[in-house]
Amino acid sequence: MDFTNEIKKRRTFAIISHPDAGKTTLTEKFLLYGGAINTAGSVKGKATAKHAVSDWMEIEKERGISVTSSVLQFSYGGYCINILDTPGHQDFSEDTYRTLMAADSAVMVIDGSKGVEAQTRKLFKVCVMRHIPIFTFINKMDRDAMDTFELLDDIEKELGIATCPINWPIGSGKAFQGVYERKTKTVELFSDTQKGTRVGEVQRIAASDGQLEQVIGDRAKEKLEEEIELLDGASAEFDQELVSKGELSPVFFGSALTNFGVETFLRHFLTMTTPPLPRLSDHGPIDPMEEADFSAFVFKIQANMNKAHRDRIAFMRICSGTFTAGMDVYHVQGGKQIRLSQPQQMMASERKMIETAYGGDIIGVFDPGIFSIGDTLTTSREKYAYEGIPTFAPEHFARVRQLDTMKRKQFVKGINQIAQEGAIQIFQEYNTGMEEIIVGVVGVLQFDVLKYRLKNEYNVEILLENLPYEHIRWIENEGIDMDSLSGTSDMKKIKDLHERPLLLFVHEWSVRMTLERNPDLKLSEFGRS
Ligand code: G4P
Repeated sequence: MDFTNEIKKRRTFAIISHPDAGKTTLTEKFLLYGGAINTAGSVKGKATAKHAVSDWMEIEKERGISVTSSVLQFSYGGYCINILDTPGHQDFSEDTYRTLMAADSAVMVIDGSKGVEAQTRKLFKVCVMRHIPIFTFINKMDRDAMDTFELLDDIEKELGIATCPINWPIGSGKAFQGVYERKTKTVELFSDTQKGTRVGEVQRIAASDGQLEQVIGDRAKEKLEEEIELLDGASAEFDQELVSKGELSPVFFGSALTNFGVETFLRHFLTMTTPPLPRLSDHGPIDPMEEADFSAFVFKIQANMNKAHRDRIAFMRICSGTFTAGMDVYHVQGGKQIRLSQPQQMMASERKMIETAYGGDIIGVFDPGIFSIGDTLTTSREKYAYEGIPTFAPEHFARVRQLDTMKRKQFVKGINQIAQEGAIQIFQEYNTGMEEIIVGVVGVLQFDVLKYRLKNEYNVEILLENLPYEHIRWIENEGIDMDSLSGTSDMKKIKDLHERPLLLFVHEWSVRMTLERNPDLKLSEFGRS
């Protein structure tokens, strides 16, 4: 079949939220509509809860959280949908950010009683940087929610993006009656469809129907009319172009648990998002609708999926063409032709081997230790490389002390490999000649992962001494004279593995002060990989 028909059907998105907002529940309901599972509860049973989908690492099991992001694929209404799950817990790692680099759009789940929360804010920054469309699902409307206008205000202020409600809730909590769809002027009545375990009938009634008052009550109807009048006067109009540029977020209300508003969201979302778009390479944009050759980039490397063989799986996002199992491709950064073996894909709660995949899909292939984050693979004779994945700013730093100095070699090998996978970032003192390593992580859990893995895989014990720094900046100026920099007392100069200079600060205001004192200095929150 023509590869463009397959690509046109693809929708690849990341789902982001603060812990407990309902991301897992919503994902499960999507799968229910896609027929990938029969009854809700198979992805997330109570006991197996959060690590049902990816329980590859012991540490995940011990803590009952998902350290890594996983991918789910299902079909719905003729579309082939890839959901990239981003762990939203407090201790997430850079993987969470990188996953967003592989997505074409993002769905942000917000708890209606809480509004925008910390984790959402961080992930959101990356979406904005990429200008990808962001869709908002305000969840848990069956519980008492914040005032709807306040919620929208919160999103606009906190995240700096305009919102456009596609539907509007009628009450919340015990008084939740359903949602009013603005375009069709109909009310979708709330029912909890057997607590959301099955796909149910949706009941609709036109807003102009005289029955509405009896169905939802006169007070609710009056309030709805008032709110809609206010909304029509105040909110941004739906504009597909702005949505596609990530400047306007369509907002939907619902209750994932009771399966209300989920299918409505899915249907709209699919028509408002695009299939995979061109991606920038060093040979210009590569358009998946024109480029027949296979191309992909690595966005995540996961070690030790199988403990018996210290194996690694490289997750890649296919950008163009058709993938077939065992195919030979050119690894641009390695400068070599390689065979992609053991391709696998996540399907609902299990991994399975795959034979074919297309632009927009995510596959995991066996990595004999040759890939790094951001690497490009292609069958094109042009051997282009996709734009690198930025290095995201770690927020926690520690000095690494090796307990058994006899094992220096294993230690260096281990820590470098773990850094190559992108699980941690490593730095050194600037110009002190000291070999000590400073490790930086996005979430503190990564410190435990580092300790655990060095001990289990490389038999090296380390001690981590926490450092007070929280802000890191890459220096953008080429050939800067580091000695003449006039910094603050809480500033520390370090370098990365490529000998690039960086600055660490304890306080955020010191970043500003350093910039004021050195007017030519250019600092960035994102590094180049
Ligand atoms: P997360 O992946 O974003 O962390 O959230 P998750 O789906 O695990 O949901 C967190 C909790 O919120 C769960 O309850 C879930 O059942 C509940 N929840 C999700 N969506 C809704 C909703 O629309 N309405 C209401 N009322 N609750 C919702 P839990 O008690 O932590 O887990 P469980 O015992 O239900 O499994």
